[in-house]
Amino acid sequence: MNDTFILKGNIIDSKDLNQLRIIPNGYLICKNGICKGAFEKIPKEYQDFDLIDYQDKLIIPGLVDLHLHASQYAYHGTGMDVELIPWLTQIAFPEEEKFESVDYAKCAYSIFVRDLVKSPTTRACIFATKHTPATLALMDELENSGLVTYVGKVEMDRFASEKLNSIGTVNEVNQIKLWINESLKRYQNTYPILTPRFIPSCTQELLEELKNIELEYKLKVQSHLSENLDEIKWVSELEPTSKFYGDAYEKYHLFGSINKTIMAHCIYSSIDEINLMKKNGVFIAHCPASNMNVKSGIAPISKYLKIGLHVGLGTDVSGGETLSLFTTMKQAIQVSKLYWRLVDQTISPITLENAFFMGTRGGGEFFGNVGAFQDGYAFDCLILEDSELETIINLDLRERLERIIYCSNSSDVIEHKYVQGKKIF
Ligand code: GUN
Ligand code: FE
Repeated sequence: MNDTFILKGNIIDSKDLNQLRIIPNGYLICKNGICKGAFEKIPKEYQDFDLIDYQDKLIIPGLVDLHLHASQYAYHGTGMDVELIPWLTQIAFPEEEKFESVDYAKCAYSIFVRDLVKSPTTRACIFATKHTPATLALMDELENSGLVTYVGKVEMDRFASEKLNSIGTVNEVNQIKLWINESLKRYQNTYPILTPRFIPSCTQELLEELKNIELEYKLKVQSHLSENLDEIKWVSELEPTSKFYGDAYEKYHLFGSINKTIMAHCIYSSIDEINLMKKNGVFIAHCPASNMNVKSGIAPISKYLKIGLHVGLGTDVSGGETLSLFTTMKQAIQVSKLYWRLVDQTISPITLENAFFMGTRGGGEFFGNVGAFQDGYAFDCLILEDSELETIINLDLRERLERIIYCSNSSDVIEHKYVQGKKIF
């Protein structure tokens, strides 16, 4: 079977939040698309498997992007001089309106998926737009790419333009069900995920229906939380009976109590919100690039990690300017150093090990056994060729990984990508 083999190379994954496991010239076993472990010597039972020798290259787990907007990719790297709310109304919403046209969507999404395949990401949780045909067009492209993704048709019925707000809850419920049923029928590696955009864009009627759909279809959920101070104040005015922002989702079981849920940002979460995220096992998508670009702030990530919350990384394209999770790891480390230096010296900066963990196992857990080279985990990996980062210094393997994270133009260092044991390039 062609998804049963051994890869040889310099293997690196996370032992835990604070430690890498590094196996120089090690062997990584794939059996029927599932990892059987990483070893210094080939175990007897696998001696007959075909071996591919990647020599001095690095082999790391595929990276997991817990939060990004495919529909915003067309303008990535522009429009960064405003804060969140005007950024949404002036830049994001006018672009998302264009996805009414399936032709436009197909063009925009084919560029997005092409670039996502070239990036270090093997799995992602993606926002599309509210449009059913365009969202299915994105899912068609993703399914063909070999990546594994959750994709959300974005739900919103207030605050955006007339074109983007859904009109009539009954009609919207029919659209959502049509989209879910079609997705479940068409795809193997592309899953629908319920996606209320954020509390300001969802009426209580819509949230109530999303709750019913979540229960009926047992769907996972993704949304935004406590990203910007104006947004949080606005939520408290819109939902005066909610004790805190996350409580407005919790009322409708859209906060992890039923199915796995991702909340992006969580920069200003109160202690009650943090406690509820811990209790419900909410996954936080930390998106440092976006948090800088739209001037939202810095999330106290090492505090969340210490408490034992689930934290993964998100590029949040196109609040974030890059699809590269290597760059996101670097940014996560860098903003945490500024937070420690300038804001709160009790919140220690995160380390390379912490950032690598979040980009692999931290986000991977949302997908199940993903993000490490352990027995029973999905066989997702990247083969990294870093000779473009030439130096006369003799670097050890941790330093080579660190330089890839800090200095590489990611696509150039990725020689091959495997997802579920299949080599997608
Ligand atoms: N909150 C609601 N919608 C969005 C979005 O598209 N991007 C970001 N960063 N935050 C949001
Ligand atoms: Fe976002």
